[in-house]
Amino acid sequence: MSDNTNIEVRKGLYGVIADYTAVSKVMPETNSLTYRGYAVQDLVAECSFEEVFYLLWNGELPNEEQLAEFNRRGRSYRKLDAGLIALIHSLPLDCHPMDVMRTAVSYMGTKDSEHFTPDADHITHVGHNLLAQLPMVLAMDIRRRQGLDIVAPDPDKSVAHNLLSMVFGNGPESPASNPDDVRDFEKSLILYAEHSFNASTFTSRVITSTRSDVYSAITGAIGALKGPLHGGANEFVMHTMLEIDDPEKAADWVNNALDNKDLIMGFGHRVYKKGDSRVPSMEASFRDLAERHDGAKWVAMYENMRDAMDARTGIKPNLDFPAGPAYHLLGFPVDFFTPLFVVARIAGWTAHIVEQYNDNSLIRPLSAYNGPEQRQVTPLAAR
Ligand code: COA
Repeated sequence: MSDNTNIEVRKGLYGVIADYTAVSKVMPETNSLTYRGYAVQDLVAECSFEEVFYLLWNGELPNEEQLAEFNRRGRSYRKLDAGLIALIHSLPLDCHPMDVMRTAVSYMGTKDSEHFTPDADHITHVGHNLLAQLPMVLAMDIRRRQGLDIVAPDPDKSVAHNLLSMVFGNGPESPASNPDDVRDFEKSLILYAEHSFNASTFTSRVITSTRSDVYSAITGAIGALKGPLHGGANEFVMHTMLEIDDPEKAADWVNNALDNKDLIMGFGHRVYKKGDSRVPSMEASFRDLAERHDGAKWVAMYENMRDAMDARTGIKPNLDFPAGPAYHLLGFPVDFFTPLFVVARIAGWTAHIVEQYNDNSLIRPLSAYNGPEQRQVTPLAAR
């Protein structure tokens, strides 16, 4: 065995500072988060998703003229692509929707003549393209599984409003027809937009550091986000709540899971240990949605699970815990919750890709070898 006694290995890069970033700051000591210096809860209260997207890319909030130009350009990318439609309809109906998102981005990359990351302008072009196309992909994928036709994108609607109307249509019962639902959904997109060096963002930065292209970086990021320890948790939160079904059984369920040493999705965080800065804003939207959509049962489930977990472990909910039931109340199928996270996180991923590209160093850590000592190869016939 190699002698590794004096080597410090940080498994999971626990506590390692890998680079600088000016995009966002996570402050676990005060349970707070800023995007480009602005507190996330203030952005949720005051801004549209598009303003936050602009901020993450440009470092400053837009004025009215800049926002109008951002929207004019972004919405001009909302065109249905016959090749993409055919591709999505060719995919298995029982594949995971995150696989559809990943495949769609990979396909979009094949249609881009830039084979390697060129410059910030091109990354902006790709960002607009993804922000326009991925909500359409998500909506198309939901509707094909339900045997429904595509709803055409609307260039006059915001990202959040357009996504809801492409998924649910524009009838009176659709959340797209309720401005409060649209706003609560938009707030979730702002909260999911960015979170420093999380696993998927770091993945996108690793891929960018090799000077690969933006679509490859986003495809890899989607793969990382799919996992239940990361973005996939919002889906698993709802699977758990549906499995428990009765809020009165929530505490027993939590204690039983902890007895079995199972992880309970939607709790805990690598960086925040005293509470996730984004939870209060998301919880407020979840409670609003529950009031409008007869969701008292899910609020009771949320509170009972949270209290049981706190009493036994002190581990706090993360953003996925209120986001899961909020998306359920809006009517999204459970396995589409993480694709919604993808749509929001395009903002953060592309901002980090630009930052990595502008001040690049190949990301290539070392490892401590703990395999067999060097030895002689015995010829095949003698083994
Ligand atoms: N359910 C049960 N136990 C949990 C837990 C959870 N959700 N989160 C942490 N713990 C336990 C760990 O098992 C560990 O126990 P141990 O000391 O007996 O081994 C202890 O709490 C400390 O864990 P910690 O080192 O703080 O976790 P981490 O930084 O390695 O992991 C997560 C962070 C997010 C991966 C982890 O909390 C988790 O898996 N959460 C569930 C998935 C989830 O919601 N992901 C979304 C994150 S935004």
